[in-house]
Amino acid sequence: MRGKVALVTGAAGGIGSAVVRALCARGVKVAVADRDVSAVEADAHFPGDLRDAAYSGALPEAVAKALGGLDIVVNNAGVITRGKVTETTDADWSLSLGVNVEAPFRISRAAIPLMAKAGGGAIVNISSCWGVRPGPNHAVYCMTKAAIASLTQCMAIDHAPQGIRINAVCPNEVNTPMLRTGFSIRGLDPDTAVGELNKTVPIGRIAEPEDIADVVVFLASNEARYVCGALVEVNGAKF
Ligand SMILES: NC(=O)c1ccc[n+]([C@@H]2O[C@H](COP(=O)([O-])OP(=O)(O)OC[C@H]3O[C@@H](n4cnc5c(N)ncnc54)[C@H](O)[C@@H]3O)[C@@H](O)[C@H]2O)c1
Repeated sequence: MRGKVALVTGAAGGIGSAVVRALCARGVKVAVADRDVSAVEADAHFPGDLRDAAYSGALPEAVAKALGGLDIVVNNAGVITRGKVTETTDADWSLSLGVNVEAPFRISRAAIPLMAKAGGGAIVNISSCWGVRPGPNHAVYCMTKAAIASLTQCMAIDHAPQGIRINAVCPNEVNTPMLRTGFSIRGLDPDTAVGELNKTVPIGRIAEPEDIADVVVFLASNEARYVCGALVEVNGAKF
C-alpha cells in the first residue's frame, strides 16, 4: 500500500484515529478530515464540518491536489442519536442524515470519478451491526446505518466495472468516545459499563478501535481485491 493516498473522515475519533495510524504504518499518505484535526498526525489536514455540503463535496479534489491522487476513502465519521422515533427531533434527524449518510454520499460522488480516471480505488464505509439488522431505542441511527450499507452495495455494483471496490465494515460495540460518552450521559461509569458489556460478547470483550481499523485496512488493500459490495460484520460473535 506504500505511496497510496487515503482520505479518512472522523479522523480525530476512536476508530478514525486507529485507521489513520494503521494506514500510516503501511506507508500510505493520509489526509484527515474532522471538525478538529490539530492533534492528528497525518500528511494533510482538512478541518471542517461534514454537514457543510461545499466542504464535504470538495474534499476528494482537495486531497488529490495536496497529495497527488486519491486511492482510498474511509467514510468513518458518524454521530449517534438515541431514542425511539417518537423521541426524535427534527434536529436529530438532520444531524444523523447529514453526517452518517449525506457526507459519505457527497464524498463518494466526488471521489469515484477521480478514482475511475486513475484506474481504480477503494472506498470503505463504516456502517454498524445495526445497519444490517434492527436495534432498540436508536431508530434514526439504525436507519442511517442501513442507508449507508445499502448505498455501499449499490455503489459497489455500479462502480466495480471501473475498478473501484466499495465495502462497509459493520462493528458491534467498540471502545471509543462515542460508546463511552453514551454511558456517561446515562450516568454510568464508562469503565464499569464496558466491563459489564465485555461479558455479553462471546469472544470475551467488546472491540478496540484497532480491531476495526485492521479490517478497514484489509478492505482497502490489494489482499481484498475480490471483496466488493461486502458488509463485513466485526462483532466477536455478538449479533
Ligand atoms: N463505537 C461503536 O460502538 C460503534 C459501533 C458501530 C459503528 N460505529 C461507527 O463507527 C464510526 C466511528 O465512530 P467512533 O466510535 O470512532 O466515534 P467517535 O465519536 O470516537 O468518532 C467520530 C468522529 O466523527 C467526527 N464527526 C462527527 N460529526 C462530524 C461533523 N459534522 N463534521 C466532521 N466530523 C464529524 C467526530 O468529531 C469524531 O471525531 C461511526 O460512523 C460510528 O457510527 C461505532
